[in-house]
Amino acid sequence: ASTLGAAAAQSGRYFGTAIAAGRLGDSAYTTIAGREFTMVTPENEMKIDATEPQQGQFNFTAGDQVYNWAVQHGMRVRGHTLAWHGQQPGWMQGLGGSALRQAMINHINGVMAHYKGKLAYWDVVNEAFADDGSGGRRQSNLQATGNDWIEVAFRTARAADSGVKLCYNDYNIENWNAAKTQGVYNMVRDFKSRGVPIDCVGFQSHFNSGSPYNSNFRTTLQNFAALGVDVAITELDIQGASPTTYANVTNDCLAVSRCVGITVWGVRDTDSWRSADTPLLFDGNGSKKPAYTAVLDAL
Ligand code: XIL
Repeated sequence: ASTLGAAAAQSGRYFGTAIAAGRLGDSAYTTIAGREFTMVTPENEMKIDATEPQQGQFNFTAGDQVYNWAVQHGMRVRGHTLAWHGQQPGWMQGLGGSALRQAMINHINGVMAHYKGKLAYWDVVNEAFADDGSGGRRQSNLQATGNDWIEVAFRTARAADSGVKLCYNDYNIENWNAAKTQGVYNMVRDFKSRGVPIDCVGFQSHFNSGSPYNSNFRTTLQNFAALGVDVAITELDIQGASPTTYANVTNDCLAVSRCVGITVWGVRDTDSWRSADTPLLFDGNGSKKPAYTAVLDAL
């Protein structure tokens, strides 16, 4: 195969990218994206601040731009994200307790109703675990509403759209030996044992010198999949874009039958949220980097 998407499809997987609505007028960008990828995650356009800028007033303009572009190019879409401590609109940042709990539920219902039946996956909850080595929850206004906020989000999501796969998504949960990984694993195991509706876990996979790739990533993917969820690499970027590391990550996904696909977090280095790290598969001129070839050959 001569594109990432076609190569991934040989094993029934997708190869995705984050797409920014603001770049859809850049033909160099859309040419590469339209050719190479089969799954799209809106980089910011379906986040809480974008979709509910004022409480109860939903705005799907930018989200729909990305969604429509993806569908017009034969791609599927991963919704990102419904409940998160980050990129909350000001009105939500100021809420707590039962008012915030109800606002979260209303937000999930409002956004999921608009996209009902249209998306392949939803990142229902994003980044809810702490980085402090405790394996526990991150402190946030959502966490302060009660430890059950995550399962409430998933139950609400299932009721809103029974046809979309519901995912938990986080970073620094790739290394099996990390306390954060174990915390998320224990939550998913608990959810599966109690019938809380969760279908998938997304491993963001933002690798850099502070949080490097570890070869036990494959073990992590296998162990989560063994709980009965799909797994995916959802926001892959690697500081310096080592071809070897990109190939290793690709091979880790291919080794796990329930690893459904890989999404890179942007098209060209210049599109990256961490552009100084030149972490992606295409350089700023749109040329394929050695990491691109490494991934294509591994798929
Ligand atoms: C990032 C976007 O790439 C940036 O454009 C934005 O300014 C901040 O968010 N984890 C996530 C993504 O789940 O939503 C983040 O995306 C990167 C880290």
